Amino acid sequence: MHNGTTITQFIIEEQRKIEGATGDFTSLLNDIVTACKVISNMVNKGELIGVLGSAGSENVQGETQKKLDILTNEVFLRSNEWAGHLSAMASEEMEEIYGIPSQYPRGKYLLTFDPLDGSSNTDVNVSVGTIFSILRCPGERVCPNRDAFLQPGTQQVAAGYALYGPSTMMVLTTGNGVNGFTLDQDIGEFILTHSSMTIPEDTREFAINCSNMRFWEPPVKRYVDECLAGAEGPRGEDFNMRWIASMVAEVHRILTRGGIFMYPLDAKMKARGAEGKLRLMYEANPMGFIIEQAGGVASTGRERILAVKPRDLHQRVPVILGSRNEVERVVAYHAEADSEAAA
Ligand code: AHG
Ligand code: MN
Ligand code: MN
Repeated sequence: MHNGTTITQFIIEEQRKIEGATGDFTSLLNDIVTACKVISNMVNKGELIGVLGSAGSENVQGETQKKLDILTNEVFLRSNEWAGHLSAMASEEMEEIYGIPSQYPRGKYLLTFDPLDGSSNTDVNVSVGTIFSILRCPGERVCPNRDAFLQPGTQQVAAGYALYGPSTMMVLTTGNGVNGFTLDQDIGEFILTHSSMTIPEDTREFAINCSNMRFWEPPVKRYVDECLAGAEGPRGEDFNMRWIASMVAEVHRILTRGGIFMYPLDAKMKARGAEGKLRLMYEANPMGFIIEQAGGVASTGRERILAVKPRDLHQRVPVILGSRNEVERVVAYHAEADSEAAA
């Protein structure tokens, strides 16, 4: 017998607080949880079941797909298509939206997901994750088009991620704070282990891929230069740096002990017409929702991420998120640089 609250129990108790709730949403979250357990098992078995390595194909983003990118995408589709809670799904790994097949009933929600985040880390046995976001489908039980998904992040009903690390964890928000659950492999249940997660307002730890330094915009360069100057510099303190190359793992660290994570716009992206690296619908919005619900800030540097009105399903945005005071500092540096440039 386990002691502690299972994720199912937690979601049902949350549902009871909402007048008129039908249980659809609870049931949808349960299917997502099941998908993440299947993926956790697959990622954990790794080369024992021959799932590592490249699939030899590219996704719509022009990125080389790993075998696990494709397999985990399939797991998410199969787990979530049958129950009647969704009208359509959209994934980082699929060019088009996935309308619920006609043999199944359609429901009132839309699901977007990054089935395997940080997939370059699978072959080297470093933490990866799954990110998801739930939106309401405008116009009930129809087969929606791409435009139905183009809602700003403020409209999200729920968002979460699973982290496949030394422990498998699920971190979830339904707009009422952030809670973390750890998978007990022996009983196959996620148990509430981290209730009401909050991000410290201050931090002395930053995360950015410094190999792109020469391409950064001046405000980002200024911020990182000041961190690197340490106790002798304008900040008067030494900073620490981390880069895992799995956004899920970076966000989880920030939720646990604070920090700032940046994947900013840079000159290399601009030269090829890209607006950022991370994807608004699959990465930036769900993580932005979680970060805000934990008391942090999520910005593009110039705009609140959740306020960005999406123009395209696969749109990319700059991402700067984490501890409030540091993110606000970087945003202020952007504003200063932009007003100097305009003067
Ligand atoms: P994905 O594996 O879903 O394509 O996402 C990888 C993302 C993100 O998780 C990570 O922070 C970033 O890309 C790493 O980028 P670099 O390889 O440029 O460091
Ligand atoms: Mn990703
Ligand atoms: Mn991915």
